[in-house]
Amino acid sequence: MIHSTPEYIQPTAELLEKLEKFREENAGESIGGVADRVLFEDDNVKIWEMKLEPGQHSDLHHHAVDYYLIIFSGDYVAGIPPKESGADIFVAKVPEQGNTVHIPKGGTEWAYNCGEKLYHEYLVELKNT
Ligand SMILES: [Fe+2]
Repeated sequence: MIHSTPEYIQPTAELLEKLEKFREENAGESIGGVADRVLFEDDNVKIWEMKLEPGQHSDLHHHAVDYYLIIFSGDYVAGIPPKESGADIFVAKVPEQGNTVHIPKGGTEWAYNCGEKLYHEYLVELKNT
C-alpha cells in the first residue's frame, strides 16, 4: 500500500503572495470540472485524470461527493479556495513514491501546481456519497 498522511507545508511569503494573486485574478470564475478528462464512469464511480505542469491549475471545482486521489507524481500542489469561502490556501507536499488520499466532500478550490514536477493523479469520484 502506498499511503501517507498528507503533509502540509507553510508556504513562503513569496509563494503565498503568488497564490493570493492567482485567487484575486480568477475570482468569480464559474465552477468547472474537478479534473481534465474522464477515464471511466458507471452508476457508482466516475474516474478522472488530471495532469498539471508546474504553474498550471485546474478549473475552480466543487467536491459535491467523496473522492479518492491516486497521486502518481508531483512535488508541491496548492489548494486555493475562493476568498469568500473563508477557507485558507494550503500547500501539500507530494511524497516521492506518490500517495493515495481521501478527499471528503464539501470543498471548493482550484488545484495549482506550485512545484517543479508534473503533478499527475487519478481521482475516483464516489457518486453515491
Ligand atoms: Fe479538489
